[in-house]
Amino acid sequence: MLALAGYPLGLRCEFLDRDAATPGGQVAPILVGELDDAGRLAELASRSDVLTFDWENIPGKALAPLRRLTRIRPSPTALRLSQDRLHEKALFARLGIPIARHAAVDTRSQLLAALSRLGLPGVLKTRRLGYDGKGQAVIRRAAEAEAAWARFHDQPLIYEAFQPFAREVSIIGARSVSGELAYYPLAANTHADGVLRYCVAPYANRKLARAAALYLRRVMRALDYIGVLALEFFVVDGALVANEMAPRVHNSGHWTIEGCVTSQFENHLRAICDLPLGSTRVLGSAAMINFLGCLPSRERLLGIEGLAFHDYGKTPRAGRKLGHCTILRRGAADRNVALRRALKLIEWT
Ligand SMILES: Nc1ncnc2c1ncn2[C@@H]1O[C@H](COP(=O)(O)OP(=O)(O)O)[C@@H](O)[C@H]1O
Ligand SMILES: [Mg+2]
Repeated sequence: MLALAGYPLGLRCEFLDRDAATPGGQVAPILVGELDDAGRLAELASRSDVLTFDWENIPGKALAPLRRLTRIRPSPTALRLSQDRLHEKALFARLGIPIARHAAVDTRSQLLAALSRLGLPGVLKTRRLGYDGKGQAVIRRAAEAEAAWARFHDQPLIYEAFQPFAREVSIIGARSVSGELAYYPLAANTHADGVLRYCVAPYANRKLARAAALYLRRVMRALDYIGVLALEFFVVDGALVANEMAPRVHNSGHWTIEGCVTSQFENHLRAICDLPLGSTRVLGSAAMINFLGCLPSRERLLGIEGLAFHDYGKTPRAGRKLGHCTILRRGAADRNVALRRALKLIEWT
C-alpha cells in the first residue's frame, strides 16, 4: 500500500522481506533476507534516498549503522522506544499521557507482588515483540497466574491492570521534516482475540479527538518524529487511557485510502521524503473490515455500494490478515447499514 501510494508521486519503493512472495512484490522489487541481515540492509540503504519500515519488530541494532549510508525515518530511537512496552509507558507518563497502572515483571515473586498491588483482572504481556495480541495473557483469577508465568517467564514482562473500556479508539498523524503536523480523525476499533476486526471513522467525539491529538502531538514532538505515528487508546469512564503506539502506518488507518483526501500511506511517504503533507480531510463516513484467514466473496461484497476491495495476494492461513475492505458513505447511519451487510458476508478463520 506504501508502494501503491508512491507510484503517482514518482517515488519508487524496494522492500526487504524474509519471503520472496510478500505482497509488496506485486508492485515493487523485493530483496530477500532476514530483517537484521547487515549485508542486505546495507545493500538496500546504499541505493535508497530514505529507509522506512511498516513493522516495528525489526532489530533496532541492525538499523543504527545504516545511518551512515542513508536517512532512516522515523528514527531508530523512535523505533526502539516503541519496541518495549515498559519504555513506551514511561514516555507516555513523562508526557502527561494517562496510562494503565502497571508493573515490570522479571521474576515469579514480582508477578505475585504485581497481582496483589494492581489486583485482578490484569494482562501479562511480553515487553517486546508482541503484536496482534501475541505474547499476552489475561489473568482473571489468581489460579491463572501460574499458567501465564509458565508461558512467558523467559522474557521481560509487564503486568497491566485490565481496562474495563467502553471502546477502543486510535489516532493517526503525520509529522514532516519541517515539523508540519497532520491528524486523521479518531477511528473506533473492534478487536477480538487481540486482533483488529473492523473499525469505523470518523468516531465523532470532540473532547476525545482533541485529547488524542494533543497526546499524539506531544509524542511526535518529544521524539522529533518524522513519518506516520499511531496511538491506541482505551476509553474508560469517558476519558482516554493510552495503550500503545506504532511508529508506522497502522491497520486502523487503512480506511484513509478511500476515506480521506490523502491516505496515511501517502502522507507517510510525503513526510519521510521531505514533501508537504497532504490534506487529511474526510470524504464521508467510513468503515474498514479486515479479512482474516480466508478471503470473502469478492463478487458479493462488490455488490455493496461504496465498497472498495483490497486483496493483498497472500496465501491463506488461519488468523492471517489477507486483505480488507473499506466502505465509504455520506452519513454514519448509511455507513452502518452497509457495514452490517458486509459483516454478514465476511468470515474470520
Ligand atoms: N490492559 C488491557 N485491558 C483490557 N484490554 C487489553 C489490555 N491490553 C490489551 N488489551 C486488548 O488486547 C488488544 C491487543 O493488545 P495491545 O496491547 O494493543 O497489543 P498488540 O501489540 O498485540 O496490539 C487491545 O487492543 C485490547 O483489545
Ligand atoms: Mg495494539
